[in-house]
Amino acid sequence: MDGPRPSIVFVLWGTVMPNTIVVGAQWGDEAKGKIVDCLAQKAGMVVRYGGGNNAGHTVTANGETFKFHLIPSGILNPSVLCIVADGVVIDPAVLLKEISELTSRGLNPDNLKISNHAHVILPYHRILDHLEEARRGKSAIGTTGRGIGPAYVDKAARVGIRMHELIDPVRFEKRLRDVVSDKNRLLTRFYEADPIDVEAVLAEYQEYAKQLAPFVCDTSELVDKAVRDGSGIVFEGAQGTLLDLDLGTYPYVTSSHPIAGGACLGTGIGPTHIDAVLGVAKSYTTRVGAGVFPTELLDETGDYIRERGHEYGTTTGRPRRCGWMDALILKFAAQINGLTCLTLGHLDVLSGLETVKICVGYQYNGKVLDRIPCDLTNLIGLEPVYEELPGWSEELEYVTTIEAIPANCMMYIKRVEELVGVPVAAISVGPAREQTILMPGVDSGLS
Ligand code: GDP
Ligand code: IMO
Ligand code: MG
Repeated sequence: MDGPRPSIVFVLWGTVMPNTIVVGAQWGDEAKGKIVDCLAQKAGMVVRYGGGNNAGHTVTANGETFKFHLIPSGILNPSVLCIVADGVVIDPAVLLKEISELTSRGLNPDNLKISNHAHVILPYHRILDHLEEARRGKSAIGTTGRGIGPAYVDKAARVGIRMHELIDPVRFEKRLRDVVSDKNRLLTRFYEADPIDVEAVLAEYQEYAKQLAPFVCDTSELVDKAVRDGSGIVFEGAQGTLLDLDLGTYPYVTSSHPIAGGACLGTGIGPTHIDAVLGVAKSYTTRVGAGVFPTELLDETGDYIRERGHEYGTTTGRPRRCGWMDALILKFAAQINGLTCLTLGHLDVLSGLETVKICVGYQYNGKVLDRIPCDLTNLIGLEPVYEELPGWSEELEYVTTIEAIPANCMMYIKRVEELVGVPVAAISVGPAREQTILMPGVDSGLS
């Protein structure tokens, strides 16, 4: 295995933050929100580049906890310009609720900007999301039900409504009436469901448009300016690598591109302006919704992890499926995202286990696979091959230095790093900013 890339991308240029993509390295909920908040202390801009309010990003700062679905996790830092960029699908009611919650907690949303290119989630998207899931029956994906898939379908079908249209009353009315007339045919004739009341939707969304209009602009221009000024941009991924529409565990994926490449697509920035890609991983694996999960633990160890890690969805409250660390997933994430470093979190959750396991291969049909296959979803009978390491009994939540990390825990971190071939830049032992510990010698921009 190749060693870590000794590349310029680890180096902070002076006090300036490199333009860094923060990407989920597993199936989402890796703690991207926490890491983005930490990086935002040094950045000039945080850009959310994809997904919608299927995401739930938790930030715990100064004893307070915030849950963001659309607003970038940099918003707690008043000097950071926060962008909801082109690749995001926006449910206006959810965004307005988040803005008003922030205001009621004494935070100023003035440094929030919303892309005029972003697509709008409308009521028929949510309705179709539920109808399609019901129709899939036993093969249901377990979507968040927020209308994300149908909104991206409309975007690809070139019938989506974008933010610049929402805030133009004449254009919005025309577009909405056209689209709803088609959707109502689909709803009533194919799904035998009730039609949408276009007048009610029009009135509701015109009100949202008035409130959102001051935030809407061409955000790619702002990103370009930040690139030229060198103010340091953090690109906040939503979901995770294995939920990517092309490279994830299809069809049990989301409908966007959470991977690092999605940051360019969803922001309007060229790949040459990206300096670093930081993969966020848990020290075990979780997944919400249906689909393959080779290292899933359906036993008391899985329950132990779920309860200690409070592994219940930020968006839907569903219990997250829990399992051992899967090095094949992280290796795949390192490859397709071009990871320059990793953060490894939730180490505190594993305390108290006699041994901890890392999956290093998949046994299938008499062979051991060492790479995620394209049809992983369909490999029935696949068995993980584990390496078993000694656990640690010490609680970690109050640990603040690398020296205080128990030897077995450090051995685990080092083994993950070795298997993945990417340096671990920081570890995390709890939700708060202070519970992030930098590893010596790897600069992730977190220091
Ligand atoms: P995201 O979607 O990737 O931003 O992650 P979520 O916010 O959905 O889920 C991560 C959860 O883990 C949140 O509740 C965080 O507060 C919490 N968290 C973050 N880092 C740690 C950690 O190191 N240990 C523990 N126990 N919890 C953490
Ligand atoms: P964050 O950003 C975890 C999952 C859903 C479902 C699949 C498709 O918080 O990490 P969708 O509603 O997107 O069509 O659902 O994707 N999913 C997530 N799982 N974290 C997320 O976001 C997710 N966003 C979508 O559970 O399995
Ligand atoms: Mg989440």
